Amino acid sequence: MQIVIRPDRNTACATAASLIASQLNTKPASVLGLATGRTMESVYDALVDLHEAGAVGFSAATSFNLDEYLAIAPDDPRSYRSTMDRLLFDRNDIDLARTHVPHGSGPGSGGAAYEALIRDAGGIDLQLLGIGENGHIGFNEPLSSFASRTREVTLAPATRRQNAALFDGDEDAVPKRAITMGIATVLEARRILLVVTGRAKAGILARAVEGPVTAMIGATALHFHPDCLVVADEDAAGNL
Ligand code: GLP
Repeated sequence: MQIVIRPDRNTACATAASLIASQLNTKPASVLGLATGRTMESVYDALVDLHEAGAVGFSAATSFNLDEYLAIAPDDPRSYRSTMDRLLFDRNDIDLARTHVPHGSGPGSGGAAYEALIRDAGGIDLQLLGIGENGHIGFNEPLSSFASRTREVTLAPATRRQNAALFDGDEDAVPKRAITMGIATVLEARRILLVVTGRAKAGILARAVEGPVTAMIGATALHFHPDCLVVADEDAAGNL
Protein backbone atom coordinates (compact mmCIF):
# COMPACT_ATOMS: atom_id res chain seq x y z
CA MET A 1 0.00 0.00 0.00
CA GLN A 2 1.39 3.40 -0.96
CA ILE A 3 0.13 6.68 0.45
CA VAL A 4 0.13 10.14 -1.09
CA ILE A 5 -0.80 13.02 1.24
CA ARG A 6 -2.11 16.22 -0.32
CA PRO A 7 -2.64 19.52 1.51
CA ASP A 8 -6.43 19.70 1.27
CA ARG A 9 -9.55 17.98 0.01
CA ASN A 10 -9.67 19.69 -3.39
CA THR A 11 -6.05 18.88 -4.16
CA ALA A 12 -6.48 15.27 -3.03
CA CYS A 13 -9.55 14.85 -5.22
CA ALA A 14 -7.82 16.53 -8.17
CA THR A 15 -4.89 14.12 -7.74
CA ALA A 16 -7.31 11.18 -7.77
CA ALA A 17 -9.02 12.54 -10.90
CA SER A 18 -5.65 12.91 -12.66
CA LEU A 19 -4.78 9.31 -11.84
CA ILE A 20 -8.10 8.13 -13.32
CA ALA A 21 -7.48 10.31 -16.38
CA SER A 22 -4.00 8.87 -16.89
CA GLN A 23 -5.44 5.35 -16.65
CA LEU A 24 -7.91 6.27 -19.42
CA ASN A 25 -5.26 8.00 -21.50
CA THR A 26 -3.03 4.92 -21.29
CA LYS A 27 -5.91 2.55 -22.06
CA PRO A 28 -9.01 4.33 -23.42
CA ALA A 29 -11.09 1.13 -23.20
CA SER A 30 -10.37 0.80 -19.47
CA VAL A 31 -12.84 -0.87 -17.15
CA LEU A 32 -13.31 1.44 -14.17
CA GLY A 33 -14.72 0.44 -10.80
CA LEU A 34 -16.52 3.49 -9.43
CA ALA A 35 -17.66 4.54 -5.97
CA THR A 36 -20.14 6.95 -4.45
CA GLY A 37 -20.21 9.07 -1.28
CA ARG A 38 -19.46 12.74 -0.66
CA THR A 39 -15.71 12.29 -1.19
CA MET A 40 -16.38 11.09 -4.73
CA GLU A 41 -18.44 14.17 -5.60
CA SER A 42 -15.25 16.27 -5.64
CA VAL A 43 -13.36 13.55 -7.54
CA TYR A 44 -16.04 13.48 -10.24
CA ASP A 45 -16.19 17.29 -10.40
CA ALA A 46 -12.44 17.30 -11.03
CA LEU A 47 -12.82 14.58 -13.68
CA VAL A 48 -15.54 16.56 -15.46
CA ASP A 49 -13.23 19.60 -15.42
CA LEU A 50 -10.48 17.50 -17.02
CA HIS A 51 -12.95 16.28 -19.62
CA GLU A 52 -14.08 19.82 -20.41
CA ALA A 53 -10.43 20.84 -20.80
CA GLY A 54 -9.99 18.02 -23.35
CA ALA A 55 -7.56 16.17 -21.07
CA VAL A 56 -9.52 12.91 -20.85
CA GLY A 57 -12.14 10.98 -22.82
CA PHE A 58 -14.58 8.36 -21.59
CA SER A 59 -16.13 7.22 -24.87
CA ALA A 60 -14.42 3.80 -24.91
CA ALA A 61 -14.57 3.18 -21.14
CA THR A 62 -16.78 0.76 -19.25
CA SER A 63 -17.73 1.24 -15.60
CA PHE A 64 -19.00 -0.87 -12.73
CA ASN A 65 -20.16 0.78 -9.54
CA LEU A 66 -19.44 -0.80 -6.20
CA ASP A 67 -22.83 -0.75 -4.59
CA GLU A 68 -26.44 0.38 -4.52
CA TYR A 69 -29.26 0.70 -2.03
CA LEU A 70 -32.06 -1.84 -2.26
CA ALA A 71 -35.73 -0.85 -2.04
CA ILE A 72 -35.29 2.44 -3.84
CA ALA A 73 -35.79 2.62 -7.60
CA PRO A 74 -32.85 3.44 -9.90
CA ASP A 75 -34.63 6.65 -10.99
CA ASP A 76 -35.05 7.81 -7.37
CA PRO A 77 -32.68 10.81 -7.08
CA ARG A 78 -31.14 9.25 -3.93
CA SER A 79 -30.16 5.99 -5.66
CA TYR A 80 -26.52 5.56 -6.56
CA ARG A 81 -27.56 5.08 -10.21
CA SER A 82 -29.18 8.54 -10.26
CA THR A 83 -26.28 10.01 -8.30
CA MET A 84 -23.74 8.66 -10.79
CA ASP A 85 -25.81 9.91 -13.75
CA ARG A 86 -25.97 13.36 -12.20
CA LEU A 87 -22.33 13.61 -11.06
CA LEU A 88 -20.52 11.96 -13.93
CA PHE A 89 -22.31 9.90 -16.55
CA ASP A 90 -24.56 12.67 -17.94
CA ARG A 91 -21.80 15.26 -17.83
CA ASN A 92 -19.39 13.93 -20.43
CA ASP A 93 -18.99 11.50 -23.30
CA ILE A 94 -19.67 8.28 -21.34
CA ASP A 95 -21.71 5.69 -23.23
CA LEU A 96 -24.47 5.02 -20.67
CA ALA A 97 -24.91 1.49 -22.02
CA ARG A 98 -21.44 0.73 -20.72
CA THR A 99 -22.13 2.00 -17.19
CA HIS A 100 -23.24 -0.55 -14.62
CA VAL A 101 -24.63 -0.14 -11.13
CA PRO A 102 -25.64 -3.32 -9.28
CA HIS A 103 -29.33 -3.75 -8.54
CA GLY A 104 -31.38 -6.24 -6.63
CA SER A 105 -34.33 -6.82 -8.92
CA GLY A 106 -35.23 -6.97 -12.60
CA PRO A 107 -33.35 -8.49 -15.54
CA GLY A 108 -29.63 -9.12 -14.96
CA SER A 109 -29.99 -8.39 -11.25
CA GLY A 110 -28.13 -9.99 -8.36
CA GLY A 111 -24.54 -10.58 -7.40
CA ALA A 112 -23.69 -13.52 -9.66
CA ALA A 113 -25.03 -11.74 -12.75
CA TYR A 114 -23.05 -8.61 -11.87
CA GLU A 115 -19.84 -10.56 -11.40
CA ALA A 116 -20.39 -12.26 -14.78
CA LEU A 117 -20.70 -8.83 -16.42
CA ILE A 118 -17.42 -7.71 -14.81
CA ARG A 119 -15.70 -10.91 -15.97
CA ASP A 120 -17.09 -10.54 -19.52
CA ALA A 121 -15.74 -6.99 -19.65
CA GLY A 122 -12.26 -8.34 -18.88
CA GLY A 123 -12.12 -7.44 -15.17
CA ILE A 124 -11.64 -4.05 -13.53
CA ASP A 125 -8.49 -2.12 -14.43
CA LEU A 126 -8.79 0.59 -11.78
CA GLN A 127 -11.08 0.43 -8.77
CA LEU A 128 -11.88 3.73 -7.06
CA LEU A 129 -12.78 3.43 -3.37
CA GLY A 130 -13.87 5.59 -0.47
CA ILE A 131 -13.96 4.42 3.12
CA GLY A 132 -16.82 4.50 5.60
CA GLU A 133 -16.20 5.82 9.10
CA ASN A 134 -16.47 2.20 10.30
CA GLY A 135 -13.83 1.09 7.78
CA HIS A 136 -16.15 -0.38 5.18
CA ILE A 137 -15.29 -0.43 1.50
CA GLY A 138 -18.34 -0.54 -0.74
CA PHE A 139 -21.00 -1.66 1.71
CA ASN A 140 -18.83 -4.42 3.21
CA GLU A 141 -19.67 -3.76 6.82
CA PRO A 142 -17.54 -4.92 9.78
CA LEU A 143 -17.05 -8.70 9.84
CA SER A 144 -17.63 -9.08 6.09
CA SER A 145 -15.51 -11.99 4.90
CA PHE A 146 -12.41 -11.13 2.89
CA ALA A 147 -13.67 -13.90 0.54
CA SER A 148 -17.05 -12.15 0.02
CA ARG A 149 -18.45 -11.63 -3.47
CA THR A 150 -21.16 -9.33 -4.80
CA ARG A 151 -24.24 -9.88 -2.63
CA GLU A 152 -27.07 -8.30 -0.69
CA VAL A 153 -26.17 -7.04 2.78
CA THR A 154 -27.71 -5.34 5.81
CA LEU A 155 -26.31 -1.90 6.53
CA ALA A 156 -24.77 -1.14 9.92
CA PRO A 157 -26.53 1.53 12.00
CA ALA A 158 -23.34 3.66 11.81
CA THR A 159 -23.48 3.58 8.01
CA ARG A 160 -27.15 4.57 7.91
CA ARG A 161 -26.31 7.44 10.27
CA GLN A 162 -23.32 8.50 8.17
CA ASN A 163 -25.35 8.52 4.97
CA ALA A 164 -28.48 10.17 6.42
CA ALA A 165 -27.49 13.55 4.97
CA LEU A 166 -28.39 12.21 1.53
CA PHE A 167 -31.88 11.43 2.89
CA ASP A 168 -32.66 14.91 4.31
CA GLY A 169 -30.91 13.97 7.55
CA ASP A 170 -33.50 11.27 8.28
CA GLU A 171 -31.62 8.14 9.33
CA ASP A 172 -34.84 6.10 9.24
CA ALA A 173 -35.25 6.94 5.56
CA VAL A 174 -31.89 5.35 4.67
CA PRO A 175 -32.56 1.86 3.26
CA LYS A 176 -31.61 -1.01 5.56
CA ARG A 177 -30.37 -3.24 2.76
CA ALA A 178 -27.96 -2.80 -0.13
CA ILE A 179 -26.11 -4.77 -2.78
CA THR A 180 -22.33 -4.46 -2.86
CA MET A 181 -19.31 -5.92 -4.57
CA GLY A 182 -17.57 -8.21 -2.09
CA ILE A 183 -14.12 -7.68 -0.67
CA ALA A 184 -12.74 -10.49 -2.85
CA THR A 185 -14.38 -8.86 -5.88
CA VAL A 186 -12.67 -5.55 -5.07
CA LEU A 187 -9.30 -7.24 -4.56
CA GLU A 188 -9.46 -8.68 -8.10
CA ALA A 189 -9.13 -5.20 -9.64
CA ARG A 190 -5.71 -4.69 -11.22
CA ARG A 191 -5.18 -1.36 -9.43
CA ILE A 192 -6.95 0.21 -6.47
CA LEU A 193 -7.22 3.91 -5.65
CA LEU A 194 -8.58 4.76 -2.19
CA VAL A 195 -9.47 8.42 -1.64
CA VAL A 196 -9.90 9.67 1.93
CA THR A 197 -10.52 13.24 3.05
CA GLY A 198 -11.53 15.06 6.21
CA ARG A 199 -10.75 14.94 9.90
CA ALA A 200 -13.65 12.54 10.58
CA LYS A 201 -11.76 9.82 8.68
CA ALA A 202 -8.39 10.28 10.45
CA GLY A 203 -8.98 7.57 13.04
CA ILE A 204 -10.25 4.93 10.65
CA LEU A 205 -7.60 5.69 8.02
CA ALA A 206 -4.83 5.15 10.58
CA ARG A 207 -6.37 1.83 11.63
CA ALA A 208 -6.80 0.78 7.98
CA VAL A 209 -3.24 1.68 7.01
CA GLU A 210 -1.36 0.70 10.15
CA GLY A 211 -3.31 -2.47 10.90
CA PRO A 212 -3.70 -5.01 12.30
CA VAL A 213 -5.53 -6.68 9.40
CA THR A 214 -8.98 -7.55 10.68
CA ALA A 215 -12.43 -8.38 9.33
CA MET A 216 -13.71 -5.67 11.69
CA ILE A 217 -12.24 -3.15 9.22
CA GLY A 218 -12.87 -4.18 5.63
CA ALA A 219 -10.32 -1.68 4.30
CA THR A 220 -7.48 -3.60 5.99
CA ALA A 221 -7.98 -6.27 3.29
CA LEU A 222 -6.33 -3.80 0.91
CA HIS A 223 -2.98 -4.80 2.44
CA PHE A 224 -3.30 -8.00 0.39
CA HIS A 225 -3.47 -6.05 -2.89
CA PRO A 226 -0.17 -5.57 -4.77
CA ASP A 227 -1.07 -2.19 -6.32
CA CYS A 228 -3.12 -0.09 -3.91
CA LEU A 229 -2.61 3.67 -3.69
CA VAL A 230 -4.20 5.79 -0.95
CA VAL A 231 -4.67 9.49 -1.68
CA ALA A 232 -5.49 11.40 1.50
CA ASP A 233 -5.67 15.03 2.51
CA GLU A 234 -3.76 16.28 5.54
CA ASP A 235 -6.88 16.17 7.73
CA ALA A 236 -7.52 12.49 6.99
CA ALA A 237 -3.82 11.68 7.34
CA GLY A 238 -3.66 13.45 10.73
CA ASN A 239 -3.37 10.25 12.81
CA LEU A 240 -0.84 8.42 10.62
C1 GLP B 1 -20.98 4.94 1.29
C2 GLP B 1 -20.49 4.08 0.15
C3 GLP B 1 -19.03 3.77 0.31
C4 GLP B 1 -18.25 5.05 0.56
C5 GLP B 1 -18.74 5.69 1.81
C6 GLP B 1 -17.97 6.95 2.17
O1 GLP B 1 -21.16 4.22 2.47
N1 GLP B 1 -21.20 2.84 0.06
O2 GLP B 1 -18.57 3.12 -0.88
O3 GLP B 1 -16.89 4.74 0.69
O4 GLP B 1 -20.09 6.03 1.56
O5 GLP B 1 -18.76 8.09 2.02
P1 GLP B 1 -18.30 9.56 2.19
O6 GLP B 1 -17.32 9.85 1.10
O7 GLP B 1 -19.57 10.33 2.04
O8 GLP B 1 -17.69 9.68 3.53
